[in-house]
Amino acid sequence: MTPNISENRPVIRQLDDAAINRIAAGEVVERPASAVKELVENAIDAGAQRITIDVADGGKTLIRVTDDGCGIAGPDLPLAMSRHATSKIDGTDLLNIHTFGFRGEALPSLGAVARLNITSRVPEDAAFEMNVDGGDIGKVRPAALTSGTVITLRDLFFATPARLKFLRTDRAENQAISDIVKRLAMAEPFVRFELRDVGGDSPRTTFRAEAETGDMFDALHGRLATVLGREFADNSLKIDAEREGLHLTGYAALPTYSRGSAVAQYLFVNGRPVRDKLLAGALRGAYFDFLSRDRHPAAALFLDCDPTLVDVNVHPAKSEVRFRDPGLARGLIVSALRHALAEAGHRASSTVAGATLGAMQPEQTGARVYQMDRPSLGARTAAYQAQAPGFSEMAQDFSGHVVQPEYVPEPAPEDLPLGTARGQVHENYIIAQTATGMVIVDQHAAHERLVYEKLKRQMAENGVATQGLLIPEIVELSDGDCARLLEVADDLARFGLGIEPFGGGAIAVRETPAILGEVNARAMILDILDELADAGSSNMVQARVEAILSRVACHGSIRSGRWMRAEEMNALLREMEATPHSGQCNHGRPTYVELKLADIERLFGRT
Ligand SMILES: Nc1ncnc2c1ncn2[C@@H]1O[C@H](COP(=O)(O)OP(=O)(O)O)[C@@H](O)[C@H]1O
Ligand SMILES: [Mg+2]
Repeated sequence: MTPNISENRPVIRQLDDAAINRIAAGEVVERPASAVKELVENAIDAGAQRITIDVADGGKTLIRVTDDGCGIAGPDLPLAMSRHATSKIDGTDLLNIHTFGFRGEALPSLGAVARLNITSRVPEDAAFEMNVDGGDIGKVRPAALTSGTVITLRDLFFATPARLKFLRTDRAENQAISDIVKRLAMAEPFVRFELRDVGGDSPRTTFRAEAETGDMFDALHGRLATVLGREFADNSLKIDAEREGLHLTGYAALPTYSRGSAVAQYLFVNGRPVRDKLLAGALRGAYFDFLSRDRHPAAALFLDCDPTLVDVNVHPAKSEVRFRDPGLARGLIVSALRHALAEAGHRASSTVAGATLGAMQPEQTGARVYQMDRPSLGARTAAYQAQAPGFSEMAQDFSGHVVQPEYVPEPAPEDLPLGTARGQVHENYIIAQTATGMVIVDQHAAHERLVYEKLKRQMAENGVATQGLLIPEIVELSDGDCARLLEVADDLARFGLGIEPFGGGAIAVRETPAILGEVNARAMILDILDELADAGSSNMVQARVEAILSRVACHGSIRSGRWMRAEEMNALLREMEATPHSGQCNHGRPTYVELKLADIERLFGRT
């Protein structure tokens, strides 16, 4: 006999709608920013061209979203506020979804946890409004509004005090709201967005993006300049690639424009901002050979495909997606980005020139913030040097090692992006004149990159030399891990790691890349499995081989401190122009900076 059955037999009850909605709200509306997300997505789905978001106290006391979309007819207001009522799907095909919304949950959930007013007007009809107050549904009444919809939420979570306790500071909530609005603004460049903080004495616009025009890429480029900054827009490469029904577009930053953390990485799947670790992994794969571990690439990428190839219905907030073939998506991102980076060739970010200019103008106020590593002290010294009048003579006095320009026949400088060498300072910096300004090259970094690219090219042509193991190393794994590893066996073989099934959940490692010398095969296999689990694919072996090449390159290249003749310097410049990825060294630092004549004139206050 269990004692708690007879008297306290549990009673099964059907919960009322208000309770159900409050429970659902727990998933859909986690914090003020999620309410903002739902309301703004509804406005976008309604075809709005202008969306204004007002918040007070981090959205805790007030969130109001105003749009000029299609509106809701008065008699439909109660339906819009009821659960699982939506105009966006008919329920027959959950895999074919083209709108942000489709679950019909947001409005009833918000009405259950806050004081909601919805006022709306459809064309050729009067405006109506209704209130829902912590789940208490009011009556539809006539209202005043010229067009579109205004939804006002006051006292979010007043009906669920437990949730209220979990809210962070106003500042943190404002930050999250701003982040959501910016992501949606990137997704919809043709729509005007304005975010205002109306909590203080006078309303303050904290973010505004005017509607962009032009074709899709122009509009996106303009919008990214507004959201991520001019610097990003000026230093990013257009991405446009397609593979097996998957289309990737967007912009990715040059390696020399990198960030200290993964803050500027945005992925949109079929127009929907998503947070997916697929992107972080793919970006790491695309840039791994340009950036040191502590630097992170920046990109805004849009993956579009037939809606049936991706499931967005994984989570009520729909910020996670599930691809039918994640490997395909990842592969497309990696190859498209690597291709774009290769095409960019020797281009380094203009941020670098900006930072150099900043360093040359110590008195400048309102310092600009650069995401780049600061140029080395050496680069700055060289920059000061170049600033001095008659610098070649002066520099001669300082170092005694400046090469005077030699009178070699000069090709027209406009044909040469990196110009003609005019001299070398501090035995490491080549100063070259270009058609539109001047270039300062870090000869060691540049040469190291050239040697590295050459080694890689050789490796691609001749394959990776392998070293067969006398006795194959047997690594015991689970059947699943074995299968996952064997799926990528061909890729691993290309980089010199030869594996075979050994039966019974084991793998035999038969050969390893010769350049790595003695390797702990078991540890390497386990690392590869971790990376596969983490990122969906692994370039561990490739990364290790390339890391060694990079070290070889470093030793095989011209050290700084070596005096160079004019022909040598010009030859280096020409080779840089012809070599992909030569704009940055193996650690993501620039190999050269360019100062436009206009920049130089600005330095001297001539403009
Ligand atoms: N800003 C708006 N403009 C026009 N119609 C709206 C707006 N917001 C909501 N609606 C209508 O209310 C319905 C319910 O909204 P919601 O609860 O967010 O569910 P969903 O967006 O998943 O359909 C929508 O399907 C839409 O018809
Ligand atoms: Mg919705």
